Amino acid sequence: MFMQDFFRLCAICVVVLGFLTTAFAAEKSVAPAVIPLPVRCETAEGEFLFDAQTAIVTDAASRETARQLAACLEPATGLNFKITETAGSDGNVIVLKQDSGLKNLGTEGYRLEVTPRQVALTAPTQAGLFYAVQTLRQLLPPQIFSSQPVKNVVWKIPCVKIEDYPRFVWRGLMLDSGHDFQNLPFVYRFIDFMALHKFNTLHWHLPDLGTWPLEIKKYPKLLDASTRGPGVKQGHYTQDQVRKVVQYAAERHITVVPEIDMPGHSTPALLAYPELNCPIPQEGRPWQYCVGNEKTYEFLEYVLTEVLDLFPSKFIHIGGDECPKDRWQQCPLCQAKMKAENLKDGNELQSYFIKRIEKFLNSKGRRLIGWDEILEGGLAPNAAVMSWRGMQGGIEAAKTDHDVVMAPTTYTYFDYPQTADGQSDPGANNGAPVTLDTVYGFEPVPKELTSAQAAHVLGAQAQSWSDRHPTEPQIEALVYPRACALIEVLWSPKQSRQYAAFFQRLQQHEERLKALGVHSRPLSTIPQPAAK
Ligand code: ACM
Repeated sequence: MFMQDFFRLCAICVVVLGFLTTAFAAEKSVAPAVIPLPVRCETAEGEFLFDAQTAIVTDAASRETARQLAACLEPATGLNFKITETAGSDGNVIVLKQDSGLKNLGTEGYRLEVTPRQVALTAPTQAGLFYAVQTLRQLLPPQIFSSQPVKNVVWKIPCVKIEDYPRFVWRGLMLDSGHDFQNLPFVYRFIDFMALHKFNTLHWHLPDLGTWPLEIKKYPKLLDASTRGPGVKQGHYTQDQVRKVVQYAAERHITVVPEIDMPGHSTPALLAYPELNCPIPQEGRPWQYCVGNEKTYEFLEYVLTEVLDLFPSKFIHIGGDECPKDRWQQCPLCQAKMKAENLKDGNELQSYFIKRIEKFLNSKGRRLIGWDEILEGGLAPNAAVMSWRGMQGGIEAAKTDHDVVMAPTTYTYFDYPQTADGQSDPGANNGAPVTLDTVYGFEPVPKELTSAQAAHVLGAQAQSWSDRHPTEPQIEALVYPRACALIEVLWSPKQSRQYAAFFQRLQQHEERLKALGVHSRPLSTIPQPAAK
C-alpha cells in the first residue's frame, strides 16, 4: 500500500512539474500582444520595471518624442518622468535616439530593445521613434491607457527585441464630415486612436450632400444653415481650428488629406451660390456644378487656394465620384463647352473638368487624387486613383503607371454592418457585411499586377461614411475593432498574418481600448475564429 501511494505521489509530481515547466516555457515564449504585429519580435526572460526613479534619456533631436512618451505614461502611472539628455550610470532608463544610419528600416521603422536595465528606442526618423513609443505603450499593462492614476499595478515591460517597419506608405482612415458633422473633440480622438495604431493618413471628407463644414473666407454663405440637409448636426470648422487639427495630426505623424468633392456631391455650395448650377429648371436638391460655366472654375480655384493654405499635404482629394452627367446634356453652357473642346460625351466633359483642376493643383506643387470615376473619359496625367468600386479601377490605374490607394467597398467600407445579421450596428449604412475576418483577409495588391505596377499601390484605407447620421460613439463602434484588422494588413508582413492569432491578441488589445474609452464594438459580439 505504502509503495503504491508513493508511486502515485511521484506520478502526480511528474505531471505537475511537467505542467509547470510547459506553462513557464509558454509564458516565456509568448510574444506580446502588439497590434499591428511587428515584423520581428524576439522575447527574452526578465522584465524592465519602471517607477519614480526611471528617467527618459533623449538626444536633442528626439526631445519632442520623449516628451510625448512621458505625456502618455503620466496619467495612469501618476509619475512625473524626468527627461534628460545625459544618461545616469545606474540603468533604469528609457533611451530615445535618432540614428540616421538605420537605413534598412525605411522612413517609418524602428528598433525597440527592452532589458532589465533599460529600454532603448532607436529609429532613423522621428516618425519611427513615435511608432516605437506606440509599441512600448502596448508592452505595458493595459491600465497604462487609463486617463486616471491606477493604483496597485506593477509597471513592467517584458524583455523583447523588436525590429519593425510598415508594409505600405498610405495607411488611412476616412472621416466623413460632409454627410454629417462631427465635433472637434471627436476629430482629435479619431486622430489619437489612429496614432496609437500607426495609421498615418487621415482622409478628411469635408463638403458633401449634407453640409459644407469648412470655413472658406471668400465664400461665407457656404456655412449658411439653410444649405444643410435634414438631420445634419450643426457646426463647422473655422480655419484656425483646422490649422490646429492639421498641426496636432502632424505631431503624431499623420497627414491630413482634405477632400473637396467635385463636380458632384456639391449640394450645399450650389444652394449657397445658385449661379454655379446649370441654368435649367431644377427639381429637388441640386447635385453637380455646371462645368460649362467659367464661374465654376473660378469658384473652385478660390476654394482650393484657401484649402491649400490650410492643408500642406502633397495629395489633395477632389472626389469625382457619382456625378450624374445627364443634366449636363440639357445645359446650354455644358453643351457649348463640349463643342468648343471637342468632347463627345459626359465622361469626356468630366475628364476635361478634372484635368483642369489637376493642372491648377500641379501648378501649386500638389497632386490630385480622386475616386475611381476619374478614370472615365480619360485619367488626368498625374492623378492618383482611390479605388472604391472594387479593385478594378486601381488595377487599371496601376497598369498605366498611376499611383493607387485601395478602398474597395467589400473590405474597407466600415459604414457597412460588421456582422452577418446586420442588426447590431446602429448608424450603419446598407451594404453587404464587412466582417472583422473579411477585413483581415484583405490583400491590397492584386495578383494581376507585375511587381513594377504593384509598386504603385501606395496602400489602402477604410471609409466611415456618415449618411445615416451616426452619433460619434456609433462611428467609433463602426471603425473599431475593424481598424485594428486593417492596420495589420497595412503594416505587418503579408506572410505573418493569421486571423486566429490576431483575434487572440485583439482580446488583450480590447482591454487597452476599454481603458482608453474607445467605443469599440465588443469582441464578445463578433464570431470567434473556428478552432483548428
Ligand atoms: C463613394 O462611396 N461614393 C466614394
